Amino acid sequence: MARILQQDDALEAACRHLAAGEAVAMPTETVYGLAADATNGEAVARIFEAKGRPRFNPLIAHVADMEMARRFAVFPPLAERLAGAFWPGPLTLVLPQAEGSAIHPLATAGLDTVALRCPRGFARQAIARLGRPLAAPSANVSGRISATTAEAVQAQLGTRIPLIVDGGPTPVGLESTIVKVAGETLTLLRPGGLAAEEIERVAGRALVRGTTGVEAPGMLASHYAPSARLRLNVAQVEPGEALLAFGPRRARGAETAVKVLNLSPAGDLREAAANLFGHLAALDLGAAAVIAVEPVPASGLGEAINDRLARAAAPRDTGGEKL
Ligand code: TXA
Ligand code: MG
Repeated sequence: MARILQQDDALEAACRHLAAGEAVAMPTETVYGLAADATNGEAVARIFEAKGRPRFNPLIAHVADMEMARRFAVFPPLAERLAGAFWPGPLTLVLPQAEGSAIHPLATAGLDTVALRCPRGFARQAIARLGRPLAAPSANVSGRISATTAEAVQAQLGTRIPLIVDGGPTPVGLESTIVKVAGETLTLLRPGGLAAEEIERVAGRALVRGTTGVEAPGMLASHYAPSARLRLNVAQVEPGEALLAFGPRRARGAETAVKVLNLSPAGDLREAAANLFGHLAALDLGAAAVIAVEPVPASGLGEAINDRLARAAAPRDTGGEKL
């Protein structure tokens, strides 16, 4: 199994592995990432290998600051403004690649755009110390639930990587929001840990929605699939089902559920986001063949939560995604 080091003691060891072209799992504020040097093709390939991910998925390149970001992408004024407001933080910007960008084409899947994010926490320290960008998808086996604890990473990838940096549970709990910037046009490619409304407020314009599928292949319908079947927006729990609850009021029949976990008893969407993958994984470990899910409001972070739930509930044979 992978060695687990607490983040306060891990910087040197992590950077040694990364400089040697290996993949290391580490915390960001959103979810754990499986990180490798984004400028080194073999290192990036190790990520795909460990995750069993289809190769056509481009990865996010994580940077330490704007100075590093400008080496790889061209920032139109709107992108400049968004990065200024939300970096470091759970926002990924898809931008035109800069001339001479050293990001390896395996990391961008050969596109002429690049997805950049400046994360908070250990990952940012590691990037700054290494002086190179890190490609880092979520640290889970392709198509499975994203990991928000070091233990969850160990369970999925422990036999495939040398080192996991443990920073405790990730505070945001959902992947970053991805926005493509093309001149004056902002397109929401993936809802995530930063509410779309907050981005729109700073940008002073609406995000274009509904064009996700093709541009962000990680958005394949069956992403985030647990083994149990999910039944969404339930008002009535059937006997034998597990229940993923939300808020203070229970669906009818909740007392017959084999196990109940509440995303947020108080109905707080940020708390629910942070609990989402952990609760799904915990219910999935139980014996129930079906996880009933209570309705979660669609506003704010609820948009991303409902998006992940819909993917987790989707049929498994879409898009050739490996499970
Ligand atoms: O919070 C996060 O974003 C986490 C942490 C580790 O930073 N990372 C993450 O990475 O979720 P990943 O690889 O699981 O998701 C990256 C998404 C994929 O859906 C991919 O298709 C999309 O970003 N993407 C990457 N480059 C792109 C590009 N040039 N154009 C469009 N989509 C792109
Ligand atoms: Mg992922």
